[in-house]
Amino acid sequence: MPEEEQLLSLLRMYKGYVSAKTLAKEAGISRSTMSKRIRILRKYGYNIESNRRIGYKLVAETDLPVPWELAKVLNTCFLGKNKILYRLTVESTQKLAILLAEKKTSSEGIVIIAEQQTGGRGRENRKWLSPSGGIWLSVILRPTTSALDITLLPFAAAVAVCEAIRKTTDLNPKLRWPNDVMINGKKVAGILVDISMEADLINYAIIGIGINANVDSLALSSAVESHLTVTSIRDELGYKINILELTKVTLEQLEYHYLRIKDDLPHRIIEQWKNNSDIFHHKVEVIGKHSTIKGIAEDVKDDGSLLVRTHEGKEINVVASDVRVRF
Ligand code: BTN
Repeated sequence: MPEEEQLLSLLRMYKGYVSAKTLAKEAGISRSTMSKRIRILRKYGYNIESNRRIGYKLVAETDLPVPWELAKVLNTCFLGKNKILYRLTVESTQKLAILLAEKKTSSEGIVIIAEQQTGGRGRENRKWLSPSGGIWLSVILRPTTSALDITLLPFAAAVAVCEAIRKTTDLNPKLRWPNDVMINGKKVAGILVDISMEADLINYAIIGIGINANVDSLALSSAVESHLTVTSIRDELGYKINILELTKVTLEQLEYHYLRIKDDLPHRIIEQWKNNSDIFHHKVEVIGKHSTIKGIAEDVKDDGSLLVRTHEGKEINVVASDVRVRF
């Protein structure tokens, strides 16, 4: 938003109220262009007060993860460094990321963020309600590792989100297999990974992350898996958080874990996943297409599969894509 940036700089410079006349003059634009740009800045989350007599005042900076603010604070090597796309409304950041990734020219590390999604997608093709106030983002990766490591990507993303929430709030999220992020037994965030492969080569992997940050969890309940209750960070804390900050830390943690998988330390991510989980020794129901098996969650193996001991003492290995697991 280069055009609005100049107006923003002027508002920052004046700190207090500045008359509309002065502002328009200094920006070298007409009053109506100025009003239009002020409206755009407000849409992007800047709190600008206006008063007929005394003009405009920047009351608060935005806390939305808009690219020009996120880029200033993002401490990564490649993630979000090349390009961050931000949409006020989009059908699905995941869909947009796939479209972009199909073009071979879209490089690794592009981040797509939306304030709201009209057709957000969850795992197993479920609907993912994404009103304004949440963090809805997708990241384009082009990993060159072996096929096995790819299965670890959702685990890396789940650990990253868990750590980011812990670092930026007083909350203590826990992971539920395969990659739900829970707070007090309720789902607060989910991960969706889409992979495109040709033979053994990975074209791209898109990591989609949805975090119910400042949304009203009552408005979300209807769309989530029937056996899960949902929550939001705002509802757990009782106040809103800065989603620019949470987005920044999430992307930083994601890059950190992704690079570690690439550095041939795949088993470490499962270790960290397990340290952040509270599922072990709990009863589980593994719901397959034709049958349901009941047992106890014993372990997650290095390949990401869940080890369940049935009530008859038999060990079974559960792969995320095959079943749904109820804890
Ligand atoms: C789940 O079912 O738990 C995964 C939810 C993933 C939602 C995110 S929001 C950003 C990205 N865009 C989508 O349409 N889905 C993912």
